[in-house]
Amino acid sequence: MKKELRAAVIAGNWKMNCGPAAAKALIEDLKPLAANAECGVIVCVPFVDLQVALEATKGTNIKVGAQNCHWAESGAFTAEISAGMLKELGVEYVILGHSERRQYFGETDVTVNQRLRAALNAGLKPIVCVGEVLEQREQGITEEIVRMQTKVALMGVSEEEMKSIIIAYEPVWAIGTGKTATADQADEVCGQIRKVLAELYGEAVAEATTIQYGGSMKPSNAKELLEKVHVDGGLIGGAALKAADFAGIIDAAK
Ligand code: PGA
Repeated sequence: MKKELRAAVIAGNWKMNCGPAAAKALIEDLKPLAANAECGVIVCVPFVDLQVALEATKGTNIKVGAQNCHWAESGAFTAEISAGMLKELGVEYVILGHSERRQYFGETDVTVNQRLRAALNAGLKPIVCVGEVLEQREQGITEEIVRMQTKVALMGVSEEEMKSIIIAYEPVWAIGTGKTATADQADEVCGQIRKVLAELYGEAVAEATTIQYGGSMKPSNAKELLEKVHVDGGLIGGAALKAADFAGIIDAAK
């Protein structure tokens, strides 16, 4: 396994936190702390913060992402935001298939795939989330679940398009619960995802794809997780809301 082939990426998922003023303040705090990062740094902010975030990160190493996009280019979809709209604004990344979207808003593997297609067509870089719930882990079907989520999400995605995709393994039982997967558990499932990528696209693509771990990652556990051969970064919720904590995780990626 050649971990050095892959770009380490630490992405913050702010979820439904921070209005534009707080977003600007958080990014201003983060800018000096992240300036010497040896990994990619992304903040995925609420839609209403995107413009402020793009403005505040101009000329820095911090990239901006949204937290979802719709699958259609435009049309009668009240309250939805299309991938093209995000692209027009200057957004580079978009989280897709987060477990909270699946759990509370009825998103399925198929709609995740449709959104992924739309994001790629618009020129966005998707961060695709997969992960098992606690019952599935207890039933011993984590690998099957994650394999299926990955395969369906990537339907119709070409080898070339894989270059702009990040996959985030987020065990649902570890999100916002303070319960982190052990580094070995995270590495095992990220490795299983890499195996699926090898089956679909060959070893070279599998080796080059960034696979993040997400779920209660914080400065105190980040190093151990990020040292694992298959864990190429993190998708950070709670700890992304404090500049010092997020910077601590960025430092752990060195
Ligand atoms: P958490 O969230 O770090 O607060 O567990 C991670 C996520 O949901 O992306």
